[in-house]
Amino acid sequence: MTNLAATEIPRAFFWKGDHLLLLDQTRLPLDQEWLRLTDLQGVAEAIKMLRVRGAPAIGVAAAYGAVLEIRRLQESGSGDSLDLPDPWLASFRQITRALRATRPTAVNLFHCMDRMDRVAGLFVDHAKSDNSGIFFDSELAAQRMEEEAAAIHREDEELCQKMGDFGSQLIEDGARILTHCNTGAIATGGLGTALGAIYNAHLSGKKIQVYADETRPLLQGGRITAWELFQAGIPVKLITDSMAASVMADGKVDLIMVGADRIASNGDTANKIGTMGLAVLARHFGIPMYVVAPTTTLDPSMQSGSEIEIEERNPDEVRRFQGSFSAPPEVDVYNPAFDVTPGSLISAIVTERGIHRPPYNFAELMKG
Ligand code: MRU
Repeated sequence: MTNLAATEIPRAFFWKGDHLLLLDQTRLPLDQEWLRLTDLQGVAEAIKMLRVRGAPAIGVAAAYGAVLEIRRLQESGSGDSLDLPDPWLASFRQITRALRATRPTAVNLFHCMDRMDRVAGLFVDHAKSDNSGIFFDSELAAQRMEEEAAAIHREDEELCQKMGDFGSQLIEDGARILTHCNTGAIATGGLGTALGAIYNAHLSGKKIQVYADETRPLLQGGRITAWELFQAGIPVKLITDSMAASVMADGKVDLIMVGADRIASNGDTANKIGTMGLAVLARHFGIPMYVVAPTTTLDPSMQSGSEIEIEERNPDEVRRFQGSFSAPPEVDVYNPAFDVTPGSLISAIVTERGIHRPPYNFAELMKG
């Protein structure tokens, strides 16, 4: 069995200063194709098409995308007023607005864009108070934004490490874990959320067995989770989504561990479609259901999950399979990408701050 420590951890992207080198996750597991993204259009397309995906990874990629685009505008000279603070800030905010519009559900993207906008605003205010706006160093401004994107990336890596440590405490030696979608290294800027906890349990010497749901319609579980775990030498059995109930009924699952895209104050959790079904089954079979996510996935402004916007994706994701139609081409389709699991069905939510048990009150936690 391979030791993860000796294996290169897969990465969603590498920041190269003038471009973002991004692994096209839609091509996994057969092809590892790296894209050289240089502007807003490329990064926004990659997020929309799930070339980069997973709540934390989307946020970090978007932060780098904003840096690439403001530099491109500055260098192309098309925005000749970008050497003035207010037009520069307006352009930057237009870029982050476009990035916010790529995918609605994962809140990490919005937190990252808020943070980039805030830092851009502070930089401009500072420049204006220094020299009354007569001279504005737009390159210095872009450099400041690059530092912020790199800080977001670095912090995400640290968050993964911390929540992975806490999450692994919930995994006993010998545990059989069911997981859904992909929550590993390439879904984040670090080691992963739920899969990060699983990696940590494995690294600490616990003998574990993972059941990975295939995760229809885009197969993140089969194409990515099974691939990541297999590479790390962690025993994994791939099952179709519809097998989960019977695997639980057969007593083969000790716990369920998943990630999240947005968590409301009361613990209601949006995650990949199919997660809520697992939670209902878990309650029926008396199996603990755990969510692992950084506090950057919390949305304390939402009291409950009913406020979360659920992304609806292209019907062809359901009508087609590997390029060919697997259903009548004209059939009507409903394709929500996420569902919302009631907090009351979640045994614990693990963040980098610790293991939180119900009743959840994340608005209160985030005040402290
Ligand atoms: O549509 P995706 O592939 O971006 O959905 C990803 C998920 O639902 C993950 O479970 C979630 O983002 C947590 S990942 C660290």
